[in-house]
Amino acid sequence: MNPWYFRPAAALACGAITTTAACTPSDDAQDEVHHIEPEATKELPNQDATDGPDVIANQLATLRADLLDVAGRRAAALVAQLTTDEKIALVHGTGVPKMGWGTFPPEALNGAGYIPGIPRLGIPQVTSADSACGVNIDDTRATPLPAPIALAASWDTELAQEYGERIAIELRTLGYTQALGGGINLAREPRSGRTFEYMGEDPVLSGEMIASRTIGTQSQKVLATVKHYAMNGQETNRAASDSQVDERTMRETELLAFEIAVKRGKPASVMCSYNKVNGTYACENPYLLRDVLKKEWGFKGVVQSDWAATHSTAPAALAGLDEEQPSVPEGVTVPPGFGPFFSTALRAAVDGGEVSMSRLNDMVQRKLRALIRVGVFDAPPTPSGAIDEEAGQALALAVAQRSSVLLKNATVPGTAQKALPLTATDLSSVVVVGGHADMGVLSGGGSGAVPSPDGNAVSGCEEPAPEPGTLPIPRCATWYKSAPLAAIRAKAPLATVTYFDGTDAEAAANAAENADVAIVFATQWETEALDLPTLSLPDPTTDPVNQSYDQDVLIEAVASKAKRTIVVLETGSPVTMPWLDHVHAVLEAWYPGVRGGQAIADLLFGDVNPSGKLPITFPKRDEDLPQPTISSSDPVVRYTEGLLIGYRWYDAKAVEPLFPFGHGLSYTTFVYSDMVATAALKGNVTVSFTVTNEGPVAGAETAQVYATLPTGLGEPPQRLVDWKKVWLAPGESRTLDFVVPAQRLATWDATTHAWRVNAGRYLLMAASSSRDPHALTKSVRFLRARR
Ligand code: BGC
Repeated sequence: MNPWYFRPAAALACGAITTTAACTPSDDAQDEVHHIEPEATKELPNQDATDGPDVIANQLATLRADLLDVAGRRAAALVAQLTTDEKIALVHGTGVPKMGWGTFPPEALNGAGYIPGIPRLGIPQVTSADSACGVNIDDTRATPLPAPIALAASWDTELAQEYGERIAIELRTLGYTQALGGGINLAREPRSGRTFEYMGEDPVLSGEMIASRTIGTQSQKVLATVKHYAMNGQETNRAASDSQVDERTMRETELLAFEIAVKRGKPASVMCSYNKVNGTYACENPYLLRDVLKKEWGFKGVVQSDWAATHSTAPAALAGLDEEQPSVPEGVTVPPGFGPFFSTALRAAVDGGEVSMSRLNDMVQRKLRALIRVGVFDAPPTPSGAIDEEAGQALALAVAQRSSVLLKNATVPGTAQKALPLTATDLSSVVVVGGHADMGVLSGGGSGAVPSPDGNAVSGCEEPAPEPGTLPIPRCATWYKSAPLAAIRAKAPLATVTYFDGTDAEAAANAAENADVAIVFATQWETEALDLPTLSLPDPTTDPVNQSYDQDVLIEAVASKAKRTIVVLETGSPVTMPWLDHVHAVLEAWYPGVRGGQAIADLLFGDVNPSGKLPITFPKRDEDLPQPTISSSDPVVRYTEGLLIGYRWYDAKAVEPLFPFGHGLSYTTFVYSDMVATAALKGNVTVSFTVTNEGPVAGAETAQVYATLPTGLGEPPQRLVDWKKVWLAPGESRTLDFVVPAQRLATWDATTHAWRVNAGRYLLMAASSSRDPHALTKSVRFLRARR
């Protein structure tokens, strides 16, 4: 049981970047038209040169079916045969099976939602389950994958597709129809308790990764929900807060992420969020739902409310809400706000003419179209045995290995050796400290959690009494039984590996003094419904339930004595590191999933070369954030930073981050050369450059392309416009070709309500991070603006 529901009672200019030299525009501006991407190619989801003929044939078949709207026509024919009561039954949930809120038949299963089917027309039931990083259903042995923030750090769209596929395969095995995930709210406020559930701070990275994940899920005949639409940037007062944000900011930041996800991923559902946007609840916001999502982006799926985010019947239906969840039936005792609005009340509104029959038909047609298009209608899932745990664990391990970020790797004083990777034969004594590394690895909490298949690795945590008038937010962290300590011992069988739990900093430091290396584990637990008070590593005052000692003090103490100090972080958000100058290496492992301990050891010992890059800026201190404090008393969340989300803020304000967006080290060295950039038709730009692995080991590099827009547009100094992740053997070179679509270079014109590619000079940068001192640059010029 996981009672996460929570309803409060009340409720470039280049000079700004340190790498100024790299930002000097080159002289070879080009105006010629060289290349135009074929329209059909753009429509094919995630097409890749390595895709085989079957995959491409499948994609073409889907494209053809979509063009002819085969699913839409079949859905419309079904709608014509439904009674009004049957239509109403299809547009609302019937409670929450998992919480026992409602009366359910056994086939409703144990998820977050249930909509019965209509057998006389072959319409299947819809059973939904939370699926942020795996299937969040108790006692199923579903695979806990690394958190979505980790997936984002892989910058690997193929991996994102596999992640979505794996979750869908497990859902179908358990009999579920719909995956409630993934989330895509941008990390405007990195202290948000759901940062681990989302994909970081950049709209293009987040949008593309979620699109691929969605394609993966739906390829396995499971409906995918992309959530939470929109501007749902923090948990504090989330049910009542009002995000006040101007149109241009919305369109160029979070809505751009949703736009990419919706257009390329074609999710069955988009979940509207709890909060208000500019004074109107997101789930009854005509601008967001009707005008932008449906009319402008052409979204043909279902707008589904977050659980208890519906606030009205006719206003919500007319604004574009298609499905109320969970719509707890009258008579069931639940906290206020759980509906129902779309059952008898919607029937009355239709009978009274407040909501037209054609609008109700549209709601139903969308649902049936999604079921048909994704393949659920013709092949509904039924529970079919045990989950393939081996396959799940293999993917969990691969994601953890490819998403951990090596933040720092300094030379150990007095040696010519980098702190990492460790060489087992050089080690006779290792001290491992803290973070329950003897037991397991951390996971996030709330609906985005996945139960630990073998029980919580860390016992003894006591849930505090809930605040009066609210549903309890579980405060005890879940730990997966994948102990880094055991995996480290297995890597260095001849060394003495000693563990200290961190509660006695002096004892750990004294032992570290005599060891070859000290590895300190530090953790930061976060959960839905609760923001972090600070980006400092938790201590007994900021997380009294899970943290019994001061982690910063512990790291300082160990670092003051150890010859070589390595810090491994398991966090969902960035953390500050007052001890950074005193340690030799830092590895960010995020919440690394059910094989996390193994992945961490593989990375520390160099069996796997780190290749993750930060999808989110790590600031030096809380005071550097655009919103220095999160107010719990002011229900208005003012997006006063405008376009300056994430790295855009630090670049524009010339604030040095601790680690910049896009940063991540490797055990090898990549060199960029031979950059070419060309203005193409329709405002697209082609970019190419070569990446060479000049180091001694194989590795993967995420080569990033940033653009600085012409001056005078009020834009941040730079924005990510594309990237590619490449695996290179030692000495190998690869030339990477990019076609940067015009929209990624465009600005939103709030007067004409349209994208605009402006005339002028664009500086393109090929870089290994957003602040790469070795970035290559080329500029192109557009002679005229275009829409
Ligand atoms: C969360 C959603 C989740 C839903 C159903 C809500 O509290 O915000 O992300 O899908 O519950 O569990």
